Amino acid sequence: MRSLTSRRHHKAARLLLVAVALLVTGGIYAVVSPAASVAAPTPEETIARGKELFAVSCASCHGLNGEGLASQGAPSLVGVGAAAVDFQMRTGRMPMANPLVQAPGKTNPFTPEEIAAISLYVASLGDGPAIPDPDQYDPSGLSPEEVAVGGDLFRTNCSACHNFQGSGGALPNGKVAPPLLDAEPIDIHEAMRTGPGEMPVFADQAIPDKDVKAMIAYLDQVHAEPSAGLSLGGLGPVSEGFWAWVVGIGGLVLFAMWITKKAARR
Ligand code: HEC
Ligand code: HEC
Repeated sequence: MRSLTSRRHHKAARLLLVAVALLVTGGIYAVVSPAASVAAPTPEETIARGKELFAVSCASCHGLNGEGLASQGAPSLVGVGAAAVDFQMRTGRMPMANPLVQAPGKTNPFTPEEIAAISLYVASLGDGPAIPDPDQYDPSGLSPEEVAVGGDLFRTNCSACHNFQGSGGALPNGKVAPPLLDAEPIDIHEAMRTGPGEMPVFADQAIPDKDVKAMIAYLDQVHAEPSAGLSLGGLGPVSEGFWAWVVGIGGLVLFAMWITKKAARR
């Protein structure tokens, strides 16, 4: 009995206990987290949810039914398609703070589910480009000849505004064509199909998906550099949540233990 108590008070044992408790609760979280247990909503439910979100965040400029409000200088969204909403929201352009200046790309505060719901709602207002599948923009596996064609297409269609290597440039009216260094393949596909701001639309009939992929491969080649920064890449949302839980709460618990010990010493 005595030896058990003293061992329980041993620092390492306490740390071990905390670690085990966190792993267990984190594991339970990963198993019962809502994404895993709630049935997927129907398309009708998703559209209804999108309409609600739209009313709160977008209707003040685009109107309650996406018809656009001239007083806000905001265009109708009927027929812009899911791709336009996905592009504008993921890149942080919408919801816009000030309609008088070009929307800056800022971090977007919406979850992927919310963006998908609003996209589906806007798509329900009228036909427009859909959010592309990876096989429409994934540039892997192209031959050097195809990439060279992509380079030609980029120089012909895009470099007037975005510069030869996609490094961006100023437009005559004070607007800017942003650098494409950080643009994801899906951003490039969606921007071409939806024509944000001053950019023209490049429709499928003019530049089919296979050429879009070649252009993306060309830009990848031009911008090939090791990416900086810490990323949990590939681990997926559940394991990221799991590690955030273990590391975050673990840190707090260790801090609390340190504080109490300090107080006790006084
Ligand atoms: C403060 C006003 C304002 C708010 C709020 C706002 N927008 Fe916009 N939106 C604009 C303006 C102005 C434009 C035109 C911008 C341009 O041409 O560069 C625009 C453009 C767009 C476009 C591009 C349309 C096209 O023709 O391709 C989409 C899509 C869009 N908004 C979606 C949204 C969504 C979704 C929300 C809510 C999450 C939202 N906006 C909130 C003002 C606003
Ligand atoms: C007439 C000038 C013009 C041309 C030509 C043009 N763009 Fe753009 N592009 C723009 C402007 C302006 C924006 C920013 C729009 C905004 O923020 O509302 C933009 C935005 C983009 C973005 C979004 C980048 C980001 O940071 O989110 C991509 C990707 C893009 N363009 C790719 C292309 C590609 C690929 C081509 C050629 C097929 C092309 N553009 C042709 C003017 C142009």
